[in-house]
Amino acid sequence: MAQKLQDPSQQEHQDVMPLLGIDHVEYYVGNARQAAYYYSKAFGFKVTAYAGPETKVRDRASYVCEQNEARYVFTGAMGPDSDIAKHAFEHGDGVKDVALRVPDVAYAYEYATKQGASGVLEPTVIEDEHGKVVRATIAAYGDTVHSFIERENYSGPFLPGYRPEEPVPDDGPDVGIELIDHVVCNVQLGGMNEWAQFYAKVLGFEQLVHFRDDQISSEYTALMSKVMWDGQGRVKLPINEPAPSKKKSQIDEYLEFYRGPGVQHIAMLSKDIIGTVSALRQRGVRFIRVPATYYEDMRPRIGQINEDIEEVERLNILADRDEEGYLLQIFTKNVQDRPTVFYEIIDRHGSRGFGLGNFKELFLAIEREQEERGNL
Ligand code: FE2
Repeated sequence: MAQKLQDPSQQEHQDVMPLLGIDHVEYYVGNARQAAYYYSKAFGFKVTAYAGPETKVRDRASYVCEQNEARYVFTGAMGPDSDIAKHAFEHGDGVKDVALRVPDVAYAYEYATKQGASGVLEPTVIEDEHGKVVRATIAAYGDTVHSFIERENYSGPFLPGYRPEEPVPDDGPDVGIELIDHVVCNVQLGGMNEWAQFYAKVLGFEQLVHFRDDQISSEYTALMSKVMWDGQGRVKLPINEPAPSKKKSQIDEYLEFYRGPGVQHIAMLSKDIIGTVSALRQRGVRFIRVPATYYEDMRPRIGQINEDIEEVERLNILADRDEEGYLLQIFTKNVQDRPTVFYEIIDRHGSRGFGLGNFKELFLAIEREQEERGNL
């Protein structure tokens, strides 16, 4: 059983570092226009805003893609000398910024840097005819950053400098992604505790769960994971590190191909995972498969659920139960050439967990794919 630490009181957290949620996640990619098309067609996102040369931003093109409260920005470089191009060259398409919405950027930045965070951008007011936004940025693991965004006084489509943009025409089935549930990073061996402490100090986070390597391992590979959160469930950031094992773990494979720490997967919440996964499959999203034997063990373990278990099995969805309820989840294959970033769809029915009971099966499924790539 994973060790659950005491829930901190909400009051305590509001005093330390008030966070309103994940504002958006920004990727640096090789071709932002095509990334926006892929997320529109495959994941059912709507392009809502754009910034680039046409809006007097000379060095980049950025497309904002939204679905309910989940918001991604895909940014590509206009030339070889920018940090965006260097990031894409080094890491492949990957997450640059897990941006957090806060009520007061000046306070958040001062608090975080006083607690030891490295500043990347000091609090900066950006304005246009729709109002003003305050933004600041701190460094996190690898080349990843966290921006703080204050947007109470802004009514434009995204941020100043962006114009509204027509969505990509799309007649695919409705997907029903609600919001970003958690963003998981991989760090190097020995880095997990360091980064857990970073989030505890800099963002006032608490540890929600700790998975030890003996809980998350297969015959060949193992990992350790700590889930850090804001105490209210608005922001959950699990941190994985590889554990010493017989063969190269999936975390080692990530670190090798991403060339350092970074975002491994983003979980998106659905309230109807059967509908969401059916729609995503129709749209061409490919998922990791578990064998039929998984369901023989799973049925007695999960007990009664609201969903049709035959459908759950047909769609290859995973299920896990803990003392608070159950959850259904599924993982996509990597969404770029390098074996780095992937997505999770999660449907929570009381459970605040992360699917500990599924880790082993999932590991075996991931290892089968790692082996196909010659990376195990
Ligand atoms: Fe996850």
